[in-house]
Amino acid sequence: MTLFHSIVVLTGAGISAESGIRTFRAADGLWENHRVEDVATPAAFIKDPNLVHRFYNERRQQLTRGIKANAAHVALAQFEQQFTGRFTVITQNIDNLHEQAGSQKLIHMHGELLKSRCNKTGTIFTALDDTAVSDQCPCCDEPSNVRPHIVWFGEMPLFMPEIDDLLSDCDLFVSIGTSGNVYPAAGFHQMAKAAGAHTVEINLENTSTSSCFDEQHIGLATEQVPLFFNSL
Ligand code: OAD
Repeated sequence: MTLFHSIVVLTGAGISAESGIRTFRAADGLWENHRVEDVATPAAFIKDPNLVHRFYNERRQQLTRGIKANAAHVALAQFEQQFTGRFTVITQNIDNLHEQAGSQKLIHMHGELLKSRCNKTGTIFTALDDTAVSDQCPCCDEPSNVRPHIVWFGEMPLFMPEIDDLLSDCDLFVSIGTSGNVYPAAGFHQMAKAAGAHTVEINLENTSTSSCFDEQHIGLATEQVPLFFNSL
């Protein structure tokens, strides 16, 4: 059995790639044919809220029309079930595939596609269907107040105090399928390392931060994640 007591796993788009969800940093620099500034910033929502709603509706429909968790999500959930220490998955992903696989202690630091939020009060709602500018807000009953519960560029990630606490008290940190380009998540391995944790990167290829990790596993998440967690 593993010698570790407190494990933090950070996941990025690469863990969901084999389920059929596209990663962000494709060669053309576009996200599902859009420039990020046109669909994933507060300014974009002010300029063209219809486009932003449409964009996230399409992403949400992917989830509600049958995208399935893969062997990497399942391996994390199964490991968590039998692990007696503290185990937390922090995901940058807005999909629900970790939940689908059965992960319990899960932090969505960049928000969730299946939730909306009232711009005025901050109240969060479940959003399984398409959203639109004309929607009456369930809490304040006014139209136009509902926005996707997503952290856009220029906004603060969610749950940062809790994440800081977890990173400062973990003995194993595993980064899976993230390019390490977006802060603060890209700096989590350094925070864990400063706390004395062993750090591991699992990715299809080398990233700009690979050399900072104690251990590296190159390959598909669906192969490498089960292998690694079965070996603990
Ligand atoms: P990226 O698209 O930047 O990186 C995906 C990473 O996954 C790359 O390093 C790939 O090599 C790796 N990868 C792809 N397929 C894989 C596979 N089958 N197995 C293992 N690894 C694989 O996505 P993120 O790092 O998640 O933020 O991006 C971070 C944030 O930037 C996102 O959460 C999003 C984005 O802009 C917000 O929306 C706020």
